[in-house]
Amino acid sequence: MTLERSPLPSDRIVNPAPAPDDAEELGPSAGPSLRPSSMDEYIGQRKVVENLKLFITAARQRGDALDHVLLAGPPGLGKTTLAHIVAREMGTQLHCLTGPNVERKGDLAAVLTNLQPGDVLFIDEIHRLPKALEEVLYGAMEDFKLDLIIGQGPAARTLQLDLPRFTLVGATTRTGLLTNPLRDRFGVQLRLDFYPPEELERVVSRSAGILGVPIGADGASEIARRSRGTPRIANRLLKRVRDFSQVKAGRGGDASITRDVSRAALALFEVDERGLDPMDRRILLAVAEKFDGGPVGVDNLSSALGEDRETLEEVYEPFLIQEGLLQRTPRGRVVTRAALQHLGLPDDRLPLIDLS
Ligand SMILES: Nc1ncnc2c1ncn2[C@@H]1O[C@H](COP(=O)(O)OP(=O)(O)O)[C@@H](O)[C@H]1O
Ligand SMILES: [Mg+2]
Repeated sequence: MTLERSPLPSDRIVNPAPAPDDAEELGPSAGPSLRPSSMDEYIGQRKVVENLKLFITAARQRGDALDHVLLAGPPGLGKTTLAHIVAREMGTQLHCLTGPNVERKGDLAAVLTNLQPGDVLFIDEIHRLPKALEEVLYGAMEDFKLDLIIGQGPAARTLQLDLPRFTLVGATTRTGLLTNPLRDRFGVQLRLDFYPPEELERVVSRSAGILGVPIGADGASEIARRSRGTPRIANRLLKRVRDFSQVKAGRGGDASITRDVSRAALALFEVDERGLDPMDRRILLAVAEKFDGGPVGVDNLSSALGEDRETLEEVYEPFLIQEGLLQRTPRGRVVTRAALQHLGLPDDRLPLIDLS
């Protein structure tokens, strides 16, 4: 018997994390950038944008650096983009680091001592910065001072360097994982939310314009609805639908993305009406059919699916839960009425437990 293998989560077309070939991650050589470069181009997240605009204007009027900014929210919602925009609108340089990739204090110190007044230091996945480095940041953020230890053993002495007033922009997918002392040092803390379909439709139309692909409003809305509230996914689906329409045009058709083209392409890529991919549906089906709707413990579910528990919990479940298709209860996972409807199953499979 061969076990049906699911593709690696990173190969999913609906993966919210950046793909290695994303133009944005590779720089301008990889194609036109879909990344908005000013607050005015940045779609949605109205509260966050209004706040940032105000703080940027105020800081500029004072001729001071912007206060440190923490951006929290799921992958693909525009945190890195905002960091670029902040530096640009402040008229300063952006320096980028990624939490888990900074290993030595010296590396962080080198970046800090190279900052010019007002520069933006962006630390992505800041919750994964090693603890010892986090402590280096405390003094840098609060007093703009950097303590260095020179030499070793009894000859060691500390040297304190003054840093220019700079802005730390930290991005995290999980605020809960940030230590309190670090979180408290951010004067501005903003949370990005999933985008409603109307805003994603604007993201898709804007990106199609940049890519030079003709698209109708209903073609864009079809892609937007299946993009899981996430601009990065919307852009990726758009590019794959464009491939589809382009090949179709090569056979004598029309290259524009209509509703029918979007639907046909997304059906081919197995992204359904709600943006679920085959693995999402397998998970819901397993709970509904193999486990009679649940509750089923995550370990049982994981062995039934041949998928490891962490991947299940971190990659697949959050979206299903957020969509109200799956619930985590103290006794295990259960499917909801919405999930059964979506799968076209009768709702007599709803678990007979009281979920209130
Ligand atoms: N508000 C937005 N308006 C338009 N496009 C956006 C917006 N937010 C994100 N994007 C697009 O989605 C992609 C992913 O955004 P990014 O800032 O890299 O997300 P994050 O850092 O939160 O994972 C960007 O390259 C950009 O093209
Ligand atoms: Mg990012």
